[in-house]
Amino acid sequence: MSVTRENITVLGIETSCDETSAALLVRGSVASNVISSQLIHARYGGVVPELASRAHQRLIIQVVEEALAGAGVRKEDLGGIAATQGPGLVGALLVGLSFGKALAFGLGIPFTAVNHMEGHLYSVFLEDPSPAYPFVALIVSGGHTLLVHVKAPFTHVLLGETLDDAAGEAFDKVAKMLGLGYPGGAVIDRLASLGDPSAIAFPRSFPGESTLDFSFSGIKTSVLYFLRREGLGEPGAAKARAAGQRLADICASFQAAVVDVLVARALEAARRTGVRDIALAGGVSANSLLRRTLREEAGKRGLNVYTPRLEYCMDNGAMIAYVGSMRIARGMTSPFDVPPLARLRIAETVS
Ligand code: KG4
Ligand code: ZN
Repeated sequence: MSVTRENITVLGIETSCDETSAALLVRGSVASNVISSQLIHARYGGVVPELASRAHQRLIIQVVEEALAGAGVRKEDLGGIAATQGPGLVGALLVGLSFGKALAFGLGIPFTAVNHMEGHLYSVFLEDPSPAYPFVALIVSGGHTLLVHVKAPFTHVLLGETLDDAAGEAFDKVAKMLGLGYPGGAVIDRLASLGDPSAIAFPRSFPGESTLDFSFSGIKTSVLYFLRREGLGEPGAAKARAAGQRLADICASFQAAVVDVLVARALEAARRTGVRDIALAGGVSANSLLRRTLREEAGKRGLNVYTPRLEYCMDNGAMIAYVGSMRIARGMTSPFDVPPLARLRIAETVS
């Protein structure tokens, strides 16, 4: 293989929320991907920003060293460094971004700041086969729900986004109401597999006639009203009374409502844009029903679905290293004064 700037060795650092992660991309392949999940937030029922920043600070050196050692790469062999710029928690982002800049400065190598959502979007290219351009990407995470028309690398048109809660946020809030802990998406997924998805008719919300936007706060509220109506208690106390089959049915019915909406919107986006390939990424893309249903429904229409393995669905350094390598290859490096940004939209081109 010829040595191009795209296959230089890139260190990717991700600290936007509660995962401290670092990965090495060597000749376009992931050579290591270390993810340290901060378990401390579970006892607070959500991510506590100040605690996240402190944990990132405590962990960052160790995580980066493990990633280097795991890949058998020395710091001196690095060709570039990428770190997440946003969106995310500013204090958390600041840790990885500053660390990445300082290391790149010290080594005299290119540094590039990466949009976390672009990380999720391009994570499908960490797998083989990967989608062909143009394609549609459904990015579903704890903080975001986006549908993007990806015409070419870094040529995106935003087709739809959530008007209120993100899909993962709805999973987490419902899990909290049911007393299932935080984060609750994976727990609901597991319990749902034992339940009847048609037991309770939670609403499917499709806001707007012409848009491909999402709204998940209505589904979340109907779960709350359902629990009250059924005498299953107020948030937090519900689990004690909704147990066994009843609890599994609530999880399955809620999950089915969210998945129905996500799948319908993704298929409609593919229809409107005329693409054949759909990428599914972000933490919620780990959901087993979502993966299965989107594959089945897309297959019926002759469309292909690409989803990364679970390790690349959650927040991870590999996706940041990958986008970093794409950016560095295109000369899209960042100055050392680039700031962390709590809000950062996916780069959009005019359609
Ligand atoms: O992408 P991610 O790791 O972090 C953000 O950027 O937000 O996504 C985390 C979200 C959480 O809301 C979590 O509950 C959800 O992904 N999640 C799931 C599953 N695994 C993780 N949601 C539904 N089903 C799952 N199996
Ligand atoms: Zn994420």
